[in-house]
Amino acid sequence: MNPPPLLVTCGLPYTNGPCHLGHLRTYVPADAYVRYMRRAGEEVVFVCGSDNHGTPIVVSAEEAGVSPRALSERYHKHFDDTFRRMEVIFDRFGMTDDPATHLRTKAIVSRLTENGYIYKQIVHQAYCTKCKRFLPDRYVEGVCPHCGTPARGDECDQGCGRHLEPGEIKDPVCKVCGTKAEFRDQEHYFFRLSEFREFLLSYLETLRGTSNARNYAIGWIKDELHDWCITRTLEWGVKFPGCDDLVVYVWVDAPIGYIAFTEEWAKGAGKDWKRYWCGENRVTHFIGGDIIYHHSIFWPALLKAAGYGVPHAIVASGMVKVDDHKFSKSRGYVVWTNDDYLDKGLPADYLRYYLLAYTSHTKELNFSWKVFSERINNEVVNIFGNFVYRTLFFAHKEFNGVPSCPVDPVIIAEIEKSLATVDGYMREYEFKGAVDAIMALAAFGNTYIQTHAPWKLIKTDRDASAQVIRNCIQIAQAVTLLIEPVMPAKAQECWTMLGYTDNVTDHPLSDATCPVPETSIKAPSPLFAKMEEEQVKELDALLQKRVAQANKKMEMIPMVTFEEFQKLDIRTGNVLSAEPVPKSNKLLKLQVDIGGEIRQIVAGMQQFYKPEELVGKDVVVVTNLAPAKIFGVESNGMILAAGDSASLLVPLRPVETGSKIR
Ligand code: MSP
Ligand code: ZN
Repeated sequence: MNPPPLLVTCGLPYTNGPCHLGHLRTYVPADAYVRYMRRAGEEVVFVCGSDNHGTPIVVSAEEAGVSPRALSERYHKHFDDTFRRMEVIFDRFGMTDDPATHLRTKAIVSRLTENGYIYKQIVHQAYCTKCKRFLPDRYVEGVCPHCGTPARGDECDQGCGRHLEPGEIKDPVCKVCGTKAEFRDQEHYFFRLSEFREFLLSYLETLRGTSNARNYAIGWIKDELHDWCITRTLEWGVKFPGCDDLVVYVWVDAPIGYIAFTEEWAKGAGKDWKRYWCGENRVTHFIGGDIIYHHSIFWPALLKAAGYGVPHAIVASGMVKVDDHKFSKSRGYVVWTNDDYLDKGLPADYLRYYLLAYTSHTKELNFSWKVFSERINNEVVNIFGNFVYRTLFFAHKEFNGVPSCPVDPVIIAEIEKSLATVDGYMREYEFKGAVDAIMALAAFGNTYIQTHAPWKLIKTDRDASAQVIRNCIQIAQAVTLLIEPVMPAKAQECWTMLGYTDNVTDHPLSDATCPVPETSIKAPSPLFAKMEEEQVKELDALLQKRVAQANKKMEMIPMVTFEEFQKLDIRTGNVLSAEPVPKSNKLLKLQVDIGGEIRQIVAGMQQFYKPEELVGKDVVVVTNLAPAKIFGVESNGMILAAGDSASLLVPLRPVETGSKIR
């Protein structure tokens, strides 16, 4: 019997910010794997989509003053475009807020209820008395109950990486207003995850993919496994069936998106999605190491409980860091795919190569421009580019094409060996091993052409020279076919230079040993350009500048406690009189009533206000600022104003003079 067809998915990007290099470590290896497997003769479907629900998107949309749907559409398009620019080509790139995911989620949740895996329970949930609302997930920050690290809402992102249930976080504080949250009771729906402990332990033993996805998950559930709260008090999301004021937790509908996107694809392609999701399957999830818990524990249990097939493989990458720092937008440690890379004119293929070849897939990847450029220059340009160029240049110059003689069997054997090595690595998701083996074949070619020196041979033995170059062309063809999943655009260029008029992707990998047709070969142009030191310095300087700016920002606004804030005495005041300070063209001297006391205050407002404009106005005054002499005039307080033109802060509604600001 044929094995079930391969379905590959990628962790869905949240639609609340642009694509960065960290994201790409999920998408590029998945795309390379799909390309490879297709050319190895497999039928592969490759789906993904954007993850539109959850609190981070609601919070970002609130900040941006748009609806969560509008924000999602904006970033959905951004990711779709960026993936294409990176040559990551999905058969379907959907949205979890589209009807297919809503429908499939409701169907699955209803099935879970029918099967008896859902129950209601009161939850002591973080509640903000000031904002007057429950604080789901990212609306709350506090301390991880497992490891004591500062954590946010539903996840211990800085510490042990565990998922946190509602009510579990310690010392919760409202993220919006900073108020200490209290716990209040609310009814929620739970999934009987604990009943799946035995199932998961045995399932995880046989789960394919990378070992980290198995081992972390086994470690987490060895001791205990609690039931899982799957509803949230939010407007935005998939409504919990039969319950209008609750939506399902985003980590329920997001992976269900994988199924929905398969359905959407199948509809268009005239295929049956059930082949991929019901019963025995070969569903392979590519994700980053930060979301192993969700994919190795929640997701298989949900599928099992609802009667679907469980994932065949989970491939989890190590996390990407920048200059040895965890990705952080606020700290400036981020490299944006468009702004910092593609828009600078750098080829997608270089980044693809680097992401696949730099470290083993499950290891952390510490990005730096220096190492990036070294790898490109030393490997892609010097080994691969150089070999192809020398080969084609000589073939063109001396033979005007592919010399007509059969390839040496030793060369064919070398290529076959490489094919087998690469295949072994790819099927084990060891992308670095695979790329290294491809480069080793190119390096073999380089050494071969160097030691056999066809440019010397040609002077004495034209046939022998032709034989050497014929062998080199065969190696170049093999390297080109093999490198296509890694560097699709460069491989195509190289393919064309070899004299082909079709697409390299039309050829199976096994064509590597087929004789290259005896076409003519044009004078080659260099395939790759070196990254210049100047450019690398500039790119690095940009990153360093961003980090420095972020630091400065943080230094300028250090956190203050509420107690510290309370040390300021800020009150409303009424301006009684105003006049210019003699010999100054900036300062005004004001007499301000701050509620039973009159203060003389000097303010830099001469350019922005006429004195008579200010008289009678209610203003906001810091009254306990230490006195100072400005231009020889004593000032006993500070009037608050905003922006470069000193727009005065004023109470919106009339208040008693001297009212305290709090
Ligand atoms: N929306 C969730 C995934 C839901 S899957 C049903 C999510 N989104 S994300 O935008 O934060 O990340 C998208 C993908 O990029 C995930 O596979 C994630 O693991 C990966 N990465 C995001 N930042 C990363 C690094 N810094 N390093 C490596 N991969 C990381 O998670
Ligand atoms: Zn923790």
